[in-house]
Amino acid sequence: MSGIRKVHVKTYGCQMNVYDSDRMTDALAPEGYVETDNIDEADLVILNTCHIREKAAEKVYSELGRLRVMKQERAARGDSLMVGVAGCVAQAEGKEIVRRAPVVDIVFGPQSYHLLPDLVAKAKAGRVVETEFPVEDKFEHLPAPTREKTIARGVTSFLTVQEGCDKFCAFCVVPYTRGAEVSRPAAQIIAEAERLAGAGVREVTLLGQNVNAYHGADHGEGWSAETGGRDWNLARLLTRLAEIPGLDRLRYTTSHPRDMDDELIAAHRDLPQLMPYLHLPVQSGSDRILAAMNRKHDAADYLRLIERIRAARPDIALSGDFIVGFPGETEEDFRDTLRIIDEVGYASAFSFKYSPRPGTPAATATDQVPEPVKTERLARLQEVLDARTKAFNESRNGMIMDVLFEKPGRKPGQIVGRSPWLQPVQVDAPTEMIGTIARVRIEAIGTFSLFGALVSTAGAVVAGDTGAAARGASGLPTTAHPANVHPALGAGAGGS
Ligand code: 5AD
Ligand code: SF4
Repeated sequence: MSGIRKVHVKTYGCQMNVYDSDRMTDALAPEGYVETDNIDEADLVILNTCHIREKAAEKVYSELGRLRVMKQERAARGDSLMVGVAGCVAQAEGKEIVRRAPVVDIVFGPQSYHLLPDLVAKAKAGRVVETEFPVEDKFEHLPAPTREKTIARGVTSFLTVQEGCDKFCAFCVVPYTRGAEVSRPAAQIIAEAERLAGAGVREVTLLGQNVNAYHGADHGEGWSAETGGRDWNLARLLTRLAEIPGLDRLRYTTSHPRDMDDELIAAHRDLPQLMPYLHLPVQSGSDRILAAMNRKHDAADYLRLIERIRAARPDIALSGDFIVGFPGETEEDFRDTLRIIDEVGYASAFSFKYSPRPGTPAATATDQVPEPVKTERLARLQEVLDARTKAFNESRNGMIMDVLFEKPGRKPGQIVGRSPWLQPVQVDAPTEMIGTIARVRIEAIGTFSLFGALVSTAGAVVAGDTGAAARGASGLPTTAHPANVHPALGAGAGGS
């Protein structure tokens, strides 16, 4: 066998898992592992899993069935394959995974990724299950990727600043799988953001299951004297990150309405780098259901909050998550949900059938909603949301906006980037423009993308990226949102 070993990480669920998968391959790099996209040539396959809904968790077991066959075929040729299960299913099910799927060699939870080289070494002698919450800070022990690797990963990046959740919404497994809310120290995050910007990253999305509850300690070198050791909040962190040269765009996801404080709302007014897009799930429009969900606010509180956010940043696009068929939800409750969607005017929203999760309070409620009712409500909800998405897309037609180009586009000669509102924008332009922000006039609207042309815009009013000066000038309608990436990537993940 050659000295180089190959690892393939398959990621399910949320953006935090995407970030974590990169950290896992970074942790294995010093051990001689290189990443491969091809599962067939991997010596080590890791499934980074999601437990948010039943469907997401079950996908893991079907993949493990395929890996069992693969491992047997390899064994028949005298080759080996090591299989690891990471993420929230690993954390929630632990040993149960190896019982149900003996193909698995390593089970390890989200707080153990820095231990991965050790776990791989141990697994050569027999199965390993590691789902403790270690006392040490994993981020202190996770190696940074090389500059080349960061460059290869592209001009946008995720950056986890907070993990876990203390909110205990009655439907949600996150407080159990990701644990209590923990924020990374500000200095650690700033250093990571500076490293990313130094390698050419232009846009950073700060991640956390409840990111706007961020309250990072101030024990970075040089920081305590200046600030007197006060905890950082998300607004202060964003303000500091906006000072980093080259970091032109900042986003954060996903947030809880109760943690949207005045400073954070003001940051949307004051920071041109903070993109005019906010994912702020409400889950339901019915006060009765919101109370049963333990959301700690009602529909009117949410609407007032949206008003304040819009007053600070009129062109902001709002996105949300909705659950249909939560235990006890009546047709009237559901209509309240349709009503709040109308009142808020979401640019995009994601909707899910309630899925009972083991260990959560709502799972044992006796008034579960029948599956056909959930199916019917979901279809009605999605029809409304799709229409809004379309309307929001259409509202960008003819607009001049700044686009950050990320990669080659669908057709030869095209490159694709993102609008300030996270919409993919396809433009005929040379690949050398990838990594730059350029002005684009939107000329056509597709189902998933906007299509535009490069413009020179001396004196033009540019929407979205232009900061406080142009704010309000665009008079943008804020209705629906196009096909963007949900913080839970469709499959689902923790999300406020
Ligand atoms: N059933 C259905 N949807 C859920 N979500 C979280 N838990 C559940 C569940 N048990 C949704 C919420 C959250 C999004 C990421 O997933 O809407 O915001
Ligand atoms: Fe926490 Fe969000 Fe889950 Fe509620 S839905 S428990 S806020 S992660």
